[in-house]
Amino acid sequence: MGRKTPQELRSHRWYGVDDMRSFGHRSRTKQMGFAAEDYAGKPVIGILNTWSEVNPCHAHFRLRADEVKRGVWQAGGFPLEMPAMSLGEPIMKPTTMLYRNLLAMEAEELLRSNPVDGVVLLGGCDKTVPGLLMGAASMNLPAIFVPAGPMLRGNWHGTTLGSGSDTWKYWAERRAGNIDEKAWTEIEDGIARSFGTCMTMGTASTMAAASEALGMTLPGASSIPAADSGHARMATAAGRRIVEMVWEDLKPADLMTTRAFENSVRVAMSLGGSTNAIVHLIAMAGRAGAKLDLDRFDALSRSTPFLANIRPSGKYLMEDFFYAGGLRALMVRLRDLLHLDCNTVNGRSLGENIDGAEVYNEDVIVPRNRPLSPEGGVAVLRGNLCPNGAVIKPTAVEPHLLKHAGPAIVFKDYNDMAARIDNPNLPATKDSVLVLQSAGPLGGPGMPEWGQLPLPKKLLQQGVRDMVRISDARMSGTSYGACVLHVAPESFVGGPLALVREGDMIELDVAARRLTLRVDEAELGRRRRATTLQHLSAGGGRVRRQLLPADSARHAPGADGPDGAAADLAA
Ligand code: FES
Repeated sequence: MGRKTPQELRSHRWYGVDDMRSFGHRSRTKQMGFAAEDYAGKPVIGILNTWSEVNPCHAHFRLRADEVKRGVWQAGGFPLEMPAMSLGEPIMKPTTMLYRNLLAMEAEELLRSNPVDGVVLLGGCDKTVPGLLMGAASMNLPAIFVPAGPMLRGNWHGTTLGSGSDTWKYWAERRAGNIDEKAWTEIEDGIARSFGTCMTMGTASTMAAASEALGMTLPGASSIPAADSGHARMATAAGRRIVEMVWEDLKPADLMTTRAFENSVRVAMSLGGSTNAIVHLIAMAGRAGAKLDLDRFDALSRSTPFLANIRPSGKYLMEDFFYAGGLRALMVRLRDLLHLDCNTVNGRSLGENIDGAEVYNEDVIVPRNRPLSPEGGVAVLRGNLCPNGAVIKPTAVEPHLLKHAGPAIVFKDYNDMAARIDNPNLPATKDSVLVLQSAGPLGGPGMPEWGQLPLPKKLLQQGVRDMVRISDARMSGTSYGACVLHVAPESFVGGPLALVREGDMIELDVAARRLTLRVDEAELGRRRRATTLQHLSAGGGRVRRQLLPADSARHAPGADGPDGAAADLAA
């Protein structure tokens, strides 16, 4: 396809024609101080900015938006910044997951209703990555994603601290009586030292890397620390490039293909990435009309080695990963497993983009012949406790728990768990299996990140640091432990998890991908008949509408299927 002419720009309808409406658009643009020389005949570049003061991970986005604009001006475009919902993971309650699809709709409608020819998406904190990319995929205008970048390493008395992962770790030590209030406050002061996203391999780092592997960022963009001057230069380069993409008419549908999604899954799995990647990548693929389901995800994970030694599954942090060569270097190590011919936003193939990248520290990005694990970071389980699937992150589990059987301790909801977990009379041993019900998409509501249940205080004091835990919730990508998540169907709508009773034996076998409730079918049938379905209560309808994306999916060309594993798993 040839290059577009100015008359073929989408924004021409707003600015280029001689009628009364265009007069209004032009005069009102001049009201902001812009002259015809600024916009006439130029691609209009929307900059969707998720900056806000309730999102510390995006605190630098006011600056970055200006840097994107610099690039757009340099390349002969006309930048217009538009605020979009910020979804600050550390602040919002009950969970940002309730609003991911709302952001996707907002992004799509901002682009649809305004004179935008191409868009730069500024996101990073967990849900903003899939939210913005889903909206961009549905609208299918030329788009580049600028990831916020990870924050600097945390520091406490010379010990590095990782977002989330070390919060859980030191909180457990505090509950065990090993950390006093002074130390706890010092950790609070040192764990978040700059703007940027969690610098562990949490959901933000996972999804930024997955977006780069998908071809939606400039090469190398996802590994650059937020506070590095290279991050500002990357933002400016994105501004320059998006103008060219508009003239070339290079759109998400050309990039977000089934093969590109397979690259993004492989990369996420080789990083020991977040279990949330399943929920988000399947939703994004649905929007883009690409094929990706739980079984394909599991197959790709099983055949991808785990190579990135980053917390919570490993030792280092994102800053170390950047110095070790970053994602391009890691992808060189996966070269034979990737579809190298997939096109990317810079107009070059993934293979061309990783050419010449080197690993500078083999302790951070390990070689293929000595992987941290021969398999990737997520396993999909099946069994009578999760007929529609469940997930676990084997790379973050104490190895002795990968095959385990134990009696259930059952919490009927989060409040029940919070009230009883530290009760000295809780009949829990290190072999118990902690079960949390009513924490899924409808039960939570919003499938909150409650899946890393805290360990009972009395066991922490005995030195126990991991136990098998099972729920229909999600967990933060920064979390770790033998946590079985996303159990489906969820307990709130009568899934088998609702039928578990105190003392039932539960068996986990990750290698065999099995999760089994050792209770016979006749007894389960009796329990099922006695169980009242809570989702018929008044609140359920409201939550269902918020969570399930029927409204947003309607706009999506080719996205008729379930929009994301949350809906998929809840079905
Ligand atoms: Fe924003 Fe982790 S809290 S990326």
